[in-house]
Amino acid sequence: MDYTYNGDAGVFKINEDLAVVSTVDFFTPILDIPFYYGEIAVANSLSDIYAMGAKPISALNVIGFNKKIFPMEVIAEILKGGASKLAESGTVLLGGHTIQDKEIFYGASVTGLINPVDLITNRGAKEGSILVLTKPLGTGVITTALMAKMLGMEQAMDCINNMRALNNIASEIMVKYKARAATDITGFGFIGHSIELAEASNVSLKICFSKMPVDKLAFDIISKGIYPGGSLENQSYFASNCKTEAINEIEKAILYDAQTSGGLLIAFDESIAEKALAEMQNRGVSNARIIGEVIPRGKDIIIVER
Ligand code: CO
Ligand code: CO
Repeated sequence: MDYTYNGDAGVFKINEDLAVVSTVDFFTPILDIPFYYGEIAVANSLSDIYAMGAKPISALNVIGFNKKIFPMEVIAEILKGGASKLAESGTVLLGGHTIQDKEIFYGASVTGLINPVDLITNRGAKEGSILVLTKPLGTGVITTALMAKMLGMEQAMDCINNMRALNNIASEIMVKYKARAATDITGFGFIGHSIELAEASNVSLKICFSKMPVDKLAFDIISKGIYPGGSLENQSYFASNCKTEAINEIEKAILYDAQTSGGLLIAFDESIAEKALAEMQNRGVSNARIIGEVIPRGKDIIIVER
């Protein structure tokens, strides 16, 4: 029997105890250090597996580059970065595919396993569930400033380290505490992925902006007028479903910012949310915060308070 969930990754149920979870993701460089780019690309590819509570087991590299422009050493560094994240996650690299393209792109197709009873999708959030976000927002803004050379690598190191971090521990803890729903925050930004989860669960979400983990550097950059095109698109696409007049324009821009290798947004039962959060923080997911709650479905899908 096969199942198709409208979620972060495809799920194929093999039997009552076992399902395969499958995903692919790749993108062009977001910073100038090939090793970090490789790490972040693979952390991002693994993230859709972790967002469903599954364990990654194997991966295939997907890579494009023009050998006339990019030296082989650069490609080797990117692959080394990717391999380090696969090793950290316990995922075995089975192979991959390379094509010649005018731009570099890199990522991986990842296969994971899960017992279907543990599967966490974006569909199960219930009124009263508590929302946890596990990584700071602002990566789109900060990497845009990095690529424009408006920012030094050392200034952006917190952001880079957050993108390099796997969502594995947050995922393990959300499975342990039987989270009701989850998704990872990537290209559609916090608001876009929150809307997906809210619609799949037929609820609305109330968010408290002052509790959100945000990389403070992003506020400065936005106030200088730097904002990625993809984030701007998110804003025009999703704004009509959101009530955001309680926050200012820069704060709104943070919520729509397209993220790379972002954190998990998780809905926990109220009775265990604090405990699950404490366990995440104790185990190194130090930016995880309770950021809001699930409310009955209303006209606005996302309601942002201060
Ligand atoms: Co996803
Ligand atoms: Co994805």
